[in-house]
Amino acid sequence: MDKILVLDFGGQYNQLIARRVREQNVFAEVRGYNKITLEEIRAEGYSGIIFTGGPNSVYDDSSPHFDPAILKLGVPVLGICYGHQLMAWMAGGNICSAGNISEYGKVELKASPSPLFKDIPKESVCWMSHTDYVNKTPEGFDIIAVTDNCPCAAMSCEAQRLYGVQFHPEVTHTEFGKQLLHNFLFDICGCAGDWSMGNYCKTAIASLRDKIGAGKVLLALSGGVDSSVCAALLAEAVGSQLTCVFVDHGLMRKNEGDEVEAAFSKWDINFVRINAADRFLAKLKGVEEPERKRKTIGEEFIRVFEDESKQLGSVDYLAQGTIYPDVIESGLGASAVIKSHHNVGGLPDFVDFKEIIEPLRLLFKDEVRQLGRELGLPEYLVSRQPFPGPGLAIRVLGEITREKLDILREADAIFREELDKSNAAASQYFAVLTNARSVGVMGDARTYGYTVALRAVTTDDFMTADWARIPYEVLEKASSRITNEVRSVSRIVYDITSKPPATVEWE
Ligand code: XMP
Repeated sequence: MDKILVLDFGGQYNQLIARRVREQNVFAEVRGYNKITLEEIRAEGYSGIIFTGGPNSVYDDSSPHFDPAILKLGVPVLGICYGHQLMAWMAGGNICSAGNISEYGKVELKASPSPLFKDIPKESVCWMSHTDYVNKTPEGFDIIAVTDNCPCAAMSCEAQRLYGVQFHPEVTHTEFGKQLLHNFLFDICGCAGDWSMGNYCKTAIASLRDKIGAGKVLLALSGGVDSSVCAALLAEAVGSQLTCVFVDHGLMRKNEGDEVEAAFSKWDINFVRINAADRFLAKLKGVEEPERKRKTIGEEFIRVFEDESKQLGSVDYLAQGTIYPDVIESGLGASAVIKSHHNVGGLPDFVDFKEIIEPLRLLFKDEVRQLGRELGLPEYLVSRQPFPGPGLAIRVLGEITREKLDILREADAIFREELDKSNAAASQYFAVLTNARSVGVMGDARTYGYTVALRAVTTDDFMTADWARIPYEVLEKASSRITNEVRSVSRIVYDITSKPPATVEWE
């Protein structure tokens, strides 16, 4: 199988490059420039190497560099941004750091014929972000693209299959970035494009087995996509050496706890489900303020997990379902800092373990879902919409009671069912039990029930969101079913605020 090495010099898009390569069915792995040697690179037999960008200037002593002999391995190299300048510098060219030109954003690129620009128009738009630039190409290199402000926007040495581009082909703003990477991977490196998530799955399982050996692994399962896929991967890799602790805090949606448990029944793992609804509800009694709810739940989660793991004794590994967007790179290929997991309120520092393993840390969300499907997890789990760690606690406004949770669970299930049946597009949708009661009439009797708000949003990143234009018929059906089927609900409203100024959740 062909493999591409993405040699990381600290750029912000390093993982994105690997993902773009994998999207073209070629396996790519990111390695820090100081985490792999020339000899290891030779031994790995890569089909091609990509140097990433980076924030530095090649002339700074502290800048990341690599043995220039890498250009003589006979393996095609594509340098991007800082990687392009580094390649020029390694091969004896010159870089200008005077800072009198600086390009940022979309720029018109004028390209000359080159295998790298096959099927790319002479003039196209590329994404630039640099101050330094190559002002003298190394011997044997030709300039193959320019912009108005950059005399060497791309260069190549055909004889040695070395290419450098000042712009970023991996970002979508570069019009023909995908084609450029395609040209590099297939025409220049000769890759076959036979990699798939299925292969990745096999490789990941093999390397987890190798690493874990006979060790014991502990994982806190939340039932969300990431921790579920992480659990499934480990279950497949080490089976009975894995203990999954699934804390059911009683704040999940209808049937969710049972669905999660059922999804893991096919593996021979130690699956511990803790029904802790009473504990959580006791802690939440009298709590009305949203942030206090979140904090209380996060802390209690840790306590429950702690109590359980004390009984398990020491483990060798603590597994986390951290995925790439959760990883905050500390730069320069150094190991990443773990973002405090907002679902579990931080790392349990009391659990006795040797090491943390994060088998999904290279994957983006859609890749995680794909991996879950590969592992045979049910679709309802794999394609699950985001669900906040504090669960329904932040959708029952004000104080939480068991009764209110039950009402909300029923109303929410009906709304989601009706929306799923329709073709309406929404990224996240749910019901909220407002604290407002209102007067209604049923038969000849006066009612005085809760107001349920329905919320559906469309968004790419959840940083901003628009309210979803759900067809009236779907809203009508949901409204009539909820008021008929759920006791104590007498009014339904639909939330038509976007984010900002509102947030997706009501609390
Ligand atoms: P907001 O309400 O901030 O939500 O617009 C954006 C996205 O984040 C989810 N969310 C949470 N997820 N713990 C979580 O794990 C939380 O405390 C939390 N609060 C909001 C929300 O469901 C939406 O997808």
